[in-house]
Amino acid sequence: MKRIGRLGLVISSAMLYLIPSSSPLAQDVLSKGAEQQMFNNACRTCHSIQKDDNRLGPNLHQIIERKAGSLPEYNYSAAMRNSDFIWDEAKLARFIANPDEVVPGNKMVPYGGLSSVEDRKKIVLFLRSMRSQ
Ligand code: HEC
Repeated sequence: MKRIGRLGLVISSAMLYLIPSSSPLAQDVLSKGAEQQMFNNACRTCHSIQKDDNRLGPNLHQIIERKAGSLPEYNYSAAMRNSDFIWDEAKLARFIANPDEVVPGNKMVPYGGLSSVEDRKKIVLFLRSMRSQ
């Protein structure tokens, strides 16, 4: 009896672990993980999302609704510095697909563009989720 009881305990704690992972909340957390992962893979070599943390590329802190080429302390290309628009989700998605189409002559190199719509969507969602942080 005692052994069965212990086994039961093991099974039920395993289930406790499994059941919540299929709940909508856990799915949300899991997919956020995937979005962050995509950003890490495609962008993080050159970009931080922390304020004032410029690397090879300018930081992307609150990039949505930020004016393009506007960080005073970052050495942009003339093309980016002189571009005159505000980043929104549609612009970002297009830029991630093909930077030169949005800002011809930019210096975001070497970056080949992301061809997968799904991957681009994940990155934009990630940047949006970072908006208020
Ligand atoms: C190889 C390095 C590199 C990678 C990888 C890279 N970038 Fe960049 N990024 C840059 C550089 C350099 C600039 C500055 C371009 C300029 O001044 O013309 C830039 C500029 C930008 C800007 C304009 C920022 C502003 O202040 O207006 C955005 C937005 C951006 N990158 C988003 C991304 C995203 C999203 C990814 C991933 C999908 C990415 N970048 C991947 C190097 C990179």
